Amino acid sequence: IKDEQLNVHSNGAAFPVLEKQPFIIGVAGGTASGKTTVCNMIIGQLHDQRVVLVHQDSFYHSLSNDVLEKVHEYNFDHPAAFDTELLLSCLGKLKQGQAVSIPNYDYKTHKYVDPPRKVNPSDVIILEGILVLHDPRVCNLMNMKIFVDTDSDVRLARRIQRDTVERGRNIQNVLDQYAKFVKPSFEEFILPSKKHADIIIPRGGDNDVAIDLIVQHIHTKLGQHNLCKIYPNIFVIQTTFQI
Ligand code: CTP
Repeated sequence: IKDEQLNVHSNGAAFPVLEKQPFIIGVAGGTASGKTTVCNMIIGQLHDQRVVLVHQDSFYHSLSNDVLEKVHEYNFDHPAAFDTELLLSCLGKLKQGQAVSIPNYDYKTHKYVDPPRKVNPSDVIILEGILVLHDPRVCNLMNMKIFVDTDSDVRLARRIQRDTVERGRNIQNVLDQYAKFVKPSFEEFILPSKKHADIIIPRGGDNDVAIDLIVQHIHTKLGQHNLCKIYPNIFVIQTTFQI
């Protein structure tokens, strides 16, 4: 810490001037579990804060034409499908209060398109995506971790609807991709990441009671978070609970 960042207490002891860092919330869960709905419901109730929503999907690797020729053999549900180094760098900068440029990913072409999205520093940053609780380095940046737990038959039904209507896929491709990659990767990588969550929400966005409790909890945590910035010696004990 540089000298100019130190204040001097009346007893002569120097202490750092602490800037308020953003509060980072991770929202994970299987495909079409309702992660985005949960995030939007939380954002809708955090009126008094500047909140930004970041999608892990923005950090999918942009595919080369060679890979695109065999796209049906590509596993979009594997951790290696994401540029986690870029995600870490962007999240780290946002945590330091810097603006970042985030890729604009297109699900139809599997590539980045222009222009990238500029994300300004905010009080609360919500990161949502299937694997946001998988990498411990990403988890370590979070102040609160949520897992949206929706039945797999509900998720598959939503996924068929969404991919055929919004992502330009046909039903047979959606079912083949689900059986070959989506379901096995859910079982291998996404479901085990649930153990890292502080809060587990059954039924996703249909669970109004859980959203209300989470928003109350976020307000409490934001208060404690800001207090911890001023009084760094106060420890907050965090527990895992299921609503
Ligand atoms: N995916 C794909 N093609 C791509 C990139 C991703 O089919 N080019 C699929 C992956 O198979 C992965 C899913 O997109 O399973 C991730 O998006 P998902 O979490 O389903 O989208 P959200 O809208 O965030 O889901 P939710 O309904 O939970 O908000």
